[in-house]
Amino acid sequence: MSGPNTQYDPVEVAALDPAAIDRAVEDALAQIAAATTLDQLKAARTAHQGEKSPLALANREIGALPPSAKAEAGKRVGQARGRVGHALRERQEELEAERDARILVEETVDLTVRVPRRPLGARHPVSLVSERVEDIFVAMGWEIAEGPEIEAEWLNFDALNIAADHPARQEQDTFFVDPPGSGLVLRTHTSPVQVRTMLERRPPIYVLCPGKVFRTDDLDATHTPVFHQFEGLVVDEGITMAHLKGTLDAFVQRLFGAGVETRLRPNYFPFTEPSAEIDCRCWVCGGSGTLGGVRCRTCGGTGWIELGGSGMVNQRVLRAAGVDPGRYTGFAFGLGIERSLMLRHNVADMHDIVEGDVRFSRQFGMEI
Ligand code: PHE
Repeated sequence: MSGPNTQYDPVEVAALDPAAIDRAVEDALAQIAAATTLDQLKAARTAHQGEKSPLALANREIGALPPSAKAEAGKRVGQARGRVGHALRERQEELEAERDARILVEETVDLTVRVPRRPLGARHPVSLVSERVEDIFVAMGWEIAEGPEIEAEWLNFDALNIAADHPARQEQDTFFVDPPGSGLVLRTHTSPVQVRTMLERRPPIYVLCPGKVFRTDDLDATHTPVFHQFEGLVVDEGITMAHLKGTLDAFVQRLFGAGVETRLRPNYFPFTEPSAEIDCRCWVCGGSGTLGGVRCRTCGGTGWIELGGSGMVNQRVLRAAGVDPGRYTGFAFGLGIERSLMLRHNVADMHDIVEGDVRFSRQFGMEI
């Protein structure tokens, strides 16, 4: 473009015609007001404020005006652009505020909605039963005691009055820990925790000892080399077998339901004297042995279910653990968790309990 044209009259330049500028402003304001979305407003901005907009073109013409005309034309175009710019900013703010308010409503996240999750796993029923059993005894005021799974042979056998030539100490029953003569075994029952507890605490003792135990059985439908027991031990003044019976009745009623009771059947264990097998009246047939005329499958028709062993703590065990048998007596019992679980839930095959398939565990209700 050459220098200013002194002959130039702004009113004659179409783009600078006041009426044309007013029209451009009106067009712009109308389109801005009509914009209902930020995208529409962006189009209005390009059309009326962009490089090719009428007002930008008019602005460009000013440079070519004679100096005398520049000021007035500049003022007119400047004011026009100012009004358009102002309207754009205002509408922009309104539309942004509307959008923000709408997002708050439309995109509200309801944190209480349950979304379908991919289940990662389920609590194992052995854990669930163990915890229920622990809760029952803790509710009676007992404490939980624990011992190691690799146990001193002395605590697993000798202190429990199990003689060196006792068949249970044979290799076909017990996992001995290398090297031979280490004096260590994988505990074959939770009874060594009895001895540990008596060595560590003074009576009165009311403890429940849950844990894993090991025997050299092959895995089949009813056996597993690793299983779980819980051991109960009470040592106090004046404890009798009646306390044992009352405790077991209270326990089975809480685990299997009201009305269930136990019976004690004479038996032999080296660490208890007298000793008894614990039977529980069948909670399925109520002890009749039949169900709708057919033999009850849970108890095999006997009306009773064998739960575990029990007895009064043998005085030799009390003495080995430093408890005065002249002052204290005690009872102990040991029950298998897998066995209770199989009976309680009609699990026919031990493999299901051992294999850890989540589809099995999930049936017991606690998904994680
Ligand atoms: N320890 C015995 C077993 O594993 C069970 C038992 C515990 C028996 C306590 C009597 C007293 O078979």
